[in-house]
Parts: sequence; structure tokens; C-alpha cells
Amino acid sequence: MDRITDADLVRVAIEARTHAYAPYSGFPVGAALLAEDGSVHTGCNVECASFGATCCAERTAVVKAVSGGYRRFLAVAVVSERPEPCLPCGICRQVLLEFAAPGFRLLAGRADGTFEEYGMQEILPNAFVL
Ligand code: THU
Repeated sequence: MDRITDADLVRVAIEARTHAYAPYSGFPVGAALLAEDGSVHTGCNVECASFGATCCAERTAVVKAVSGGYRRFLAVAVVSERPEPCLPCGICRQVLLEFAAPGFRLLAGRADGTFEEYGMQEILPNAFVL
């Protein structure tokens, strides 16, 4: 089967956003990760009354995918309910880098499904590596 299109990956992230648990911030986020084999793994933000325990949508997607045996990703789509592109926080950028295949792309989506594309070098230059 053909690989999912970028526009469809953003649509999957919009669908994943419907599961967001964000009663404290009121800022639901959805993410869709494209694995090297073409499979798609979703995530949403899951908040907690102890705010520091909150998990962002991107990291939810990564943890779900990696715990299912997927470790290399080609792209991630991220969307909030805002009209501007949704960009991952710093912690999520570092976690995405950990599992990014060469050429990894961020599709920073707007609520209407349009998006801007970024490379890993653009969103996390001079990254920490071990
Ligand atoms: N959030 C994400 O899910 N992803 C991001 O990249 C930025 C922030 C969530 C965390 C929290 O639930 C809410 O958005 C407000 O920060």
C-alpha cells in the first residue's frame, strides 16, 4: 500500500486531538507519527493535577510506538486548535530526535489542516547527543 500523504498525516493528528485530556490548560493537542514501515502511531496530551506529570501529545505518540516495537520515524504531524502551526516543546524535540530517521520531517499543523514543514536541524540545532 502507498505511504500516507502529509495532508492525511495531519488529518490523523486532528482526529487524535479529540482524545486529548487537557482540563487544566484547555489546550488540546494531537500528534501522528509515521514509522519507517509506513505505520502511523497517534498521541494526544494527557494532563495531570500535578502539572509536571503531564505528557505532551508528541511524547505520548513516541512512547506508544516505541513500546509497540517501532523505533524509527520519518515524520510527525502536530496540531492544536489554534489557527497557527503547532510547534513541539523543547523536551518533545529532544525525544523526537532520539528516534528520528535521517530526513525526519515535522509537519506543524494549523487547525484547518494546512501545515508548515520543518527539518530536525531547523527545530533543534546543536542538539545534545550522548
Ligand atoms: N503540549 C503538547 O501536547 N505538545 C506540545 O508540543 C506543546 C504543549 C501540551 C502540554 C499541555 O497539556 C498543554 O499542551 C499546554 O502546554
